[in-house]
Amino acid sequence: MNFIFLGPPGSGKGTQAKRVCEQLRLLHLSTGDVLRDAVKNGTELGRKAQQFMEAGELVSDELIVGIIEEKLQAGQLDRGFVLDGFPRTVPQAEALKEMMDKNGKEIDSAILLDVSDEEVIKRLSGRFTCPTCGEMYNYPNKMPRNEGVCDKDGTQLVRRPDDEEAVVRNRLEVYQRQTAPIVDFYRSESLLREIPAEGKLDEITKMVLEVMKVAQRRDYY
Ligand code: AP5
Repeated sequence: MNFIFLGPPGSGKGTQAKRVCEQLRLLHLSTGDVLRDAVKNGTELGRKAQQFMEAGELVSDELIVGIIEEKLQAGQLDRGFVLDGFPRTVPQAEALKEMMDKNGKEIDSAILLDVSDEEVIKRLSGRFTCPTCGEMYNYPNKMPRNEGVCDKDGTQLVRRPDDEEAVVRNRLEVYQRQTAPIVDFYRSESLLREIPAEGKLDEITKMVLEVMKVAQRRDYY
């Protein structure tokens, strides 16, 4: 099972990918998480990516495609995957198609999580993350038991620097300009499935799983 989760920043790609991957035992590959780890660890990739990420701009196609290619070649995507945050430009979508063809794999569906800009801004201004375990919280929807502290390991929660409102607005513009065109790319390949993604988490997860099940035409759960 190989899927792509598409959608604007804050549409719930990461949240939903984590839920369905746990349930279906798929690999959840978030290029944003790979880049954030690289920044945290001060690697060359992190140094190249940091200023683009903090400004809400995209990192170069070459760097990102290199990450995916490396994982494919290492066999890390063999057991099925959900790509979260990749592809994000038409050249990335074309490169993915080429890599998949070369490795005898295919994408089952590209699932678009549809939310309004107002909802994105509301969600991202309330997002806090645990820098130790990655657990995500959202004020006022998913509050930690003790304010500002992770329920799982007691670490002080942090905000992503790119969740400042001005940066979020730029990320939304970048999404419209550079990422929205890949919706047509997957529509023309008959792989696009759209899900209204405002509402209760469980209900959205149910819709996502249903779409995945239909795309696979196999009963996994
Ligand atoms: P990335 O980390 O991919 O950020 P993004 O796409 O902007 O997405 P987010 O992680 O902000 O949101 P999400 O859709 O995953 O939503 P989430 O589940 O977290 O990329 C960051 C940067 O890295 C980019 O700007 C770029 O610089 C670089 N980059 C990454 N990939 C790249 C690529 N391929 N090419 C070039 N550059 C790349 O949810 C958000 C919040 O909403 C959470 O607090 C959550 O709890 C809450 N929430 C979720 N669902 C609901 C709901 N139904 N109701 C209420 N709240 C909800």
